[in-house]
Amino acid sequence: MATKFFLDSGDPKETKEVLTLLGKLDGQTTNPSLIAKNPDAVGKKFTSEEIYSFYENVVKQISSQIPNGSVSIEVYADNNTKAEAMIEQGLKFNTWIPNPSTNRSDDYRLRYGARAHIKLPTTAEGLKAASELVKQGVRVNMTLVFSQAQAAAIYAATKGAKKGDVFVSPFVGRLDDRGENGMDLIKNILTMYKGGDGHVEVLSASIRSLEHFTKTIELGCDLITAPLKAYKEWVGFGSPLSMDGRGQGEGVQLKPIPYQEISLDKPWQEYNIAHELTDKGVEKFAADWNNLIDQN
Ligand code: E4P
Repeated sequence: MATKFFLDSGDPKETKEVLTLLGKLDGQTTNPSLIAKNPDAVGKKFTSEEIYSFYENVVKQISSQIPNGSVSIEVYADNNTKAEAMIEQGLKFNTWIPNPSTNRSDDYRLRYGARAHIKLPTTAEGLKAASELVKQGVRVNMTLVFSQAQAAAIYAATKGAKKGDVFVSPFVGRLDDRGENGMDLIKNILTMYKGGDGHVEVLSASIRSLEHFTKTIELGCDLITAPLKAYKEWVGFGSPLSMDGRGQGEGVQLKPIPYQEISLDKPWQEYNIAHELTDKGVEKFAADWNNLIDQN
């Protein structure tokens, strides 16, 4: 199956630009850091209520432009947030845009209506929340994935969900940033999932270079989410990618990430899901979100 294209952005104006460039878009991913970069949020402070209504409005503006697409909406979570608090947010965010019921036929669900994917961190509490939300018919996108064991735990925690309702988001660029070959993780997860029932789709995320973009497609990955810059370069406009100067230059030797034999059949709690980049990522998302809120 051909890779589906998502935009990684918290700005609905960029949705419009990508639609003009590509003629279509399959979905969009947002996160607290991307919402903080929305031009209408930069330099502003909000009350807690205002920031959620701002986020809701952004999601609605995105969704209305891609009426049959997916929009990922991320819960607020710091390293102390419990699953119950994530579930409560997920159920609320899920009502922000129309959602064809997960009980409809596969054909209907995939063809008609925008759908929310609730983004949850790949931590023990995030997995607990995911397991409960999919039972309640809510779609999920598990974010901040840096290991094959985390992807196996996501598979196990969401068993029973339908194809298209669960995404796993491995962060390619953040692994490259510390000298590991992030594309290997995509390849390894795709290989591991071949032994499964296909209910989890792989969303290649944290895209830094045109090479990430083309390799994701070559691997036949289910989905890719990339910033506007990447799409501009891909269609032959704009300048070579350099995502805020963090990308690896040509010829940088990245350490390979070896494939591991991991069974998909264990209870999710039995996988070793600890990863320092997940913890760091959770902290950064929480800090960017809190920074938008007037603490006085
Ligand atoms: C997408 O879902 C992710 O939030 C995003 O790709 C993260 O990218 P970054 O590593 O460039 O922040």
